[in-house]
Amino acid sequence: MEWFARDFDHPAYFSIYADKAADAALEGPALAALLDLPRRSRVLDLPCGWGRLHPYLRGQGFETIGGDLSPMNLVKHRACHPAPLVRLDFRALPFRPSCVDGVFCAYTSWGYFATEPENLGQLAEFARVLRPGGVLLLDLAGRSFLQAAMTEVDGIWLDFPEDGYQERAHWTPDGRRILTERTCQGASFCHDIWIPTDAEVRAFLARAGFEVGRAFGGLDGRPWEEAAERWIYRAIKR
Ligand SMILES: C[S@@+](CC[C@H](N)C(=O)[O-])C[C@H]1O[C@@H](n2cnc3c(N)ncnc32)[C@H](O)[C@@H]1O
Repeated sequence: MEWFARDFDHPAYFSIYADKAADAALEGPALAALLDLPRRSRVLDLPCGWGRLHPYLRGQGFETIGGDLSPMNLVKHRACHPAPLVRLDFRALPFRPSCVDGVFCAYTSWGYFATEPENLGQLAEFARVLRPGGVLLLDLAGRSFLQAAMTEVDGIWLDFPEDGYQERAHWTPDGRRILTERTCQGASFCHDIWIPTDAEVRAFLARAGFEVGRAFGGLDGRPWEEAAERWIYRAIKR
């Protein structure tokens, strides 16, 4: 089983990421505003997770459909934030071409696949379902920020007793991916995420059929910069 099919679909995931519920009040309105589409636009929230950002997409007046691979996340979404939801895999979206105005891809939800064709395929699927002129908001962790943040802790086990887990993260020897091992509730997990450079993000977006209209370096819409904690791309389907 691929790591992302298991790690996000386990009760421990909701403990490890418990603080992301509170972050939603800050991230949701800001990211929904950066999507910058008219009210009543049809927006796919991919991946929607358990729907923590859903109320803010609705708050912008968007008609949203959520999609995610994890049945556990979708069950929680349905209970907390009822909405049209679809179980799906990024690599083959169950939607017609050109059927939506926006795709909202929040919180480092690209780069999960082991191969370049699959990671490109995710963006190509986003492009396929967007109408020409439609918008993808791709919210990623800034690579340089992560490099700086990890220098002190690379390879060291850290304890988070309040959330009940231990974690050790390290870069792969080629410097392209971060492996994050975690133990929680007696189980072990290992996220394995490609952390692209800005040039790689832009090249992949172009190959998938997008133009990068604007790029931001923070939730407040400040301009993109190399050292920013978040790299947020507003890409337009050609
Ligand atoms: C970091 S969470 C982000 C969720 C949401 N965007 C948020 O900000 O709360 C990543 C999500 O991607 C989903 N996911 C992972 N691999 C996937 C795939 N191949 N296809 C669809 N969803 C996937 C996981 O189940 C998880 O809910």
